[in-house]
Parts: sequence; C-alpha cells; structure tokens
Amino acid sequence: MSPQRQFGRACALAAGLLLIAAGLGGAPAMADPAPGSLGALAAAKGKFFGSATDNPELSDAPYVQILTTEFGQITVGNTMKWQYTEPARGQFNYSQADTIVNLAQSNGQLVRGHTLVWHNQLPSWVNSVPNNELLGVMRNHITHEATHFRGKVIHWDVVNEAFEENGTRRQTVFQQKIGDSYIAEAFRAARAADPGAKLYYNDYNIEGINAKSDAVYNMVRSFLQQGIPIDGVGMQAHLILGQVPSSLQQNIQRFADLGLDVAITELDIRMNLPRDTAKDMQQADDYRRVVNACLAVTRCVGITVWDYTDKYSWIPSVFPGQGAALPYDENFNKKPAYHAIANALGATPDTTPPSTPGTPSASGITSSTASLMWTASTDNVGVAGYNIYRRQGTTDTLLTQSNANSTTLTGLTPNTQYQIVVRARDAANNLSATSGAVTFTTLPSAGGSCRVAYRASNWGGGGGFTAEVSITNTGPTAINGWSLVWTFGNGQRVSYMWNASYTQPAATVTATNASYNGSIGANGGTQSFGFNGTFSGGNPNPTAFALNGTNCTIA
Ligand code: G3I
Repeated sequence: MSPQRQFGRACALAAGLLLIAAGLGGAPAMADPAPGSLGALAAAKGKFFGSATDNPELSDAPYVQILTTEFGQITVGNTMKWQYTEPARGQFNYSQADTIVNLAQSNGQLVRGHTLVWHNQLPSWVNSVPNNELLGVMRNHITHEATHFRGKVIHWDVVNEAFEENGTRRQTVFQQKIGDSYIAEAFRAARAADPGAKLYYNDYNIEGINAKSDAVYNMVRSFLQQGIPIDGVGMQAHLILGQVPSSLQQNIQRFADLGLDVAITELDIRMNLPRDTAKDMQQADDYRRVVNACLAVTRCVGITVWDYTDKYSWIPSVFPGQGAALPYDENFNKKPAYHAIANALGATPDTTPPSTPGTPSASGITSSTASLMWTASTDNVGVAGYNIYRRQGTTDTLLTQSNANSTTLTGLTPNTQYQIVVRARDAANNLSATSGAVTFTTLPSAGGSCRVAYRASNWGGGGGFTAEVSITNTGPTAINGWSLVWTFGNGQRVSYMWNASYTQPAATVTATNASYNGSIGANGGTQSFGFNGTFSGGNPNPTAFALNGTNCTIA
C-alpha cells in the first residue's frame, strides 16, 4: 500500500468513527477517497461528499479516475430506477446498477440507493396494474430491489418527489390507486427488506422553508409519531445561481430537530450560459453557502452533487440555454465552485497569487472596440481568470474580466486614448502583480451625422493647390462650434486658410470654425472654408474626415 493510500485509510478510520456518530453507522464500507479530495475533507468533518453517476459515463477513463478518487460516496443516478430494475412485471434486472455498486465498493465508496418509488422513469406496465393489485406490486418491487442490494446501500431514497409545490400530494399512479398511505407502506416494506439501510424521503424545492417543505415536514413528523420507519430527508438542491434559499440551514435544522438525518442529495447550481467570471464567482459563493449550511447541522450527514462535471450534467437537455452547474467543467478542470467547496470543508486556503501576466497587445481597434491578448499566467492551483483595467494616471479602473488570456473590449469612447493593464486571479481571489501597459487610441466614430465635400485643384506649373471644403450637418442636432480633422497622405501642407483657422503639426490638419461660421443647422445645414496648399508628387484627397471627433461620410 502506498504511503498516500495508508494515509487515506487512516483518515477513513478516523472519519468512520465520526460517520457513526453522524448517523452513518452500519455503512458496509468506509469512504477512502484520496487525501485532500472533497471526499477526504468531508470525512474529516464527519460527513460524506459524493457524486451521482450513470452507466454510459463509465467508459470515459478520465471521468472514472476523478469519480473514484475525489468522492467518498456514489449515487446511482438512473439505473436503480424502476424502469431499469423491473422493466416487465416480475422480471428484475440489476446488471447496470450492480456495475456501479461494484465500482463504488472496490473503491471504498458509500452507495446511496436512488430510488425505489417514483412516478418518473416508471415502466408503462405499472400504470395498468389494477387498483387493488398496485400495493402488492409496489411492495414486491421494493422488497426485491432492497433485498438485492442489502448490505451494499447505506441510504435508500424510498419515495421520491411525492409532493406538488403547494404542498398537496402529487397525483401519481401510486397516490391515485393506493391513496395517501402508499408512502408509509413503501417505508415499511423497505425496512423489512433491508433493516440496515437508512430510509429517506427525497424531493426538490424543499431546501428552504416553504409550502412544499412544510408538507414534507408534517408528513415525516407524523411518521415518527406513528412509528413508521423513516430515518432521513433528502433535499435534492437543484438550485439556480444566486438563489440559495436563505432559510436553508434553518430548514435542515428543523428536520434534524425531529430526530431525522438530512442529506443534500442532488446538488447542482445552474446558470444561464455562457459562463463568465462573475457567474463563476457567484456559483462558488452559492456552493460555499450550501456546504456551510450542512456543516452547521450535526445531523446533515453529507452532500452529493448530481454528477460532478458539466460534461455529464442533466441540466442543458432539460433547461435549454442553462448549464455549467457543477464543480468541474466539461474538460474536468476544477471550477471556482470546486475550490469554494474544498475551502468550506477545511482545505488549507491558497494564498499564493498567480504569476504576472504578459503585457497585452492590442489589435482590431475600431471606434468602440479593441482586441487584447497577453501571455497567460501560471498558478500553483490554477488561474481562474483575468481582470482588465483602464489606467488613468495612478488609478486602475476595472473594465471587464475574462476567463482566457484574451478579451475584446467593447463600449469604448471614439477617438480616445486608452492605457490597459491586466492582473490574473485564482479561485481564492489572489491577484497577481500588474502587467505592463498597452496604449492605443480608438478610431473616430463612424457616426454618419456629417458629410464632407473636399474639392482640390492643382495650380498649373505644379507644387500648389487650392481646396474648397464644405461640411454638411446630416444629424438632427445643430452644431455650435466645430473642428474638422483630416490627415494628408502625401506630405501636403496648408499654407493659407480662409473662413477657418488651422493647425498642422505634421500630416494631420485641424481646421476650426471662424467666429462667424461656427453654427451648422440640423438636418442639412452647411458651412464652407477653403485653403491653399503645397504638395510634391501627387496630391491625393484625404480619405477620412472627423467633425468634433465623429467620422463623416465623404461626398
Ligand atoms: O438510456 C437512454 C438512451 O439509451 C437513449 O438513447 C436516450 C435518448 O433520449 O435516453 C436515455 O435515457 C435517458 C436517461 O436519463 C439516461 O441518460 C432518458 O431519456 C432521460 O429522461 C433520463 O433523464 C434522467 C432524469 O432523471 C429522468 O427524469 C436524468 O439522467 C437524471 O439525472 C434525472 O435525475 C433526476 C433524479 O432521479 C430525481 N431528481 C431530479 C433529477 C434530475 O431530473
């Protein structure tokens, strides 16, 4: 056994004692996730941290590598459901579920059984069972399946999703044909078949205090009063970014106070796609809140994510346009959410900042956009993203953030100089030193609210020319005071100008209105000026004119 493995076993042994104290006694195998993994960190706190999985993913070797080393517990995401286990009446098939259970057991991982009675993924034959036979069919199914997995499953989701949002019973085939008592009957059958497994009622949207969780609360309390065997409540926690219920901890606590265990059974936190840095940070904070709520309640025994990588999440196919709900991205990179979970579970916080990014280079500059690229930073844990700042004097103002070592700035002001610097960030929000600065000037705006007619005639004998320039205000607003800027392309010089004054430090000329022609009326008003100039060789017309910083069309 490698030293790492020995350390893992020692941790697991210590954790096992805590697990027993936390209501996980009778577990057939103790969690043995890799040191420093989420599973190991949670075990050190007396909880499990697990992941759901499904059979098709098990042919993905990098996926399995993480699944079996990072998590202390596995939930069978699909193939313990009725559709798979009793596809025809009385014909049972556990081959796919067995594959997952065997994998978990060979890696020392706990298994949650999901689920014995659910209205979904129910083979159609169940719907045609006569009313007076369905209770027997349900008991037989539970007995058969729970017996098959006896000693291998620590928790069973005995009944799943039996309530509507308003707290009334969902009108499933079981509810309609057996009546309210079907849930209690299901728990009795499960206890008889596997007395060692903890029996859970499991549902979604019961994480906060609301009509639905009140209904579940009232049901499980009455079960306890009547001696109906129930051990725990599973809160699925399919959550939405930024919407972790504020009453989560209080809600977990009220179930715990009844003498029940609570597990967070199907955690994911979805966002509108695409991901960006701000959403990743919010998601990390959301995961942290969920983990902290569970840690704060002794009888919250563990947390399971509903698969661990965005590659295999159920979200995008059911909520089009949403996703990125899990702690690993689709390429198995750890997201900020992963680090937030690890830190909440007590991982040593990362205080090492990323290396300094390279000085950005700017390209594709328009009047309002610019593309930036820089050499990526490195980090001991991983670069989470970059902050992009505008530097003005001694002040750096955050413009945007990027997950990659490039970005496109938008919404820039035309004809304006920008100085840009970049800092890298890791998931713990350590900021690197500041990169060197890149300076660029946006183009004058292609506003189209002015038109310029430029007519030049060369003098006979060469060297001199006269130009007449007229400016038309095509916009809806009158102009009061104007400067027209253009750049000569062949070394031309203005020698004398009338009806405007001018400066020409080099190729670029700025002509400014005289005192009497500064106003140009809206919607077609015009003003003109002219000048004499010199050239040598050719005298091409300027190709762009900007009036008060706005690019004009050329007539
Ligand atoms: O296996 C077949 C495959 O052969 C076929 O080609 C394919 C075509 O659609 O379908 C596959 O079955 C899919 C199955 O997942 C396995 O991937 C089903 O269509 C699909 O409906 C099923 O979705 C599952 C869903 O429950 C059903 O309601 C999700 O994977 C599973 O993650 C999800 O899990 C539920 C929990 O059990 C209860 N809580 C909510 C949670 C999310 O909906």
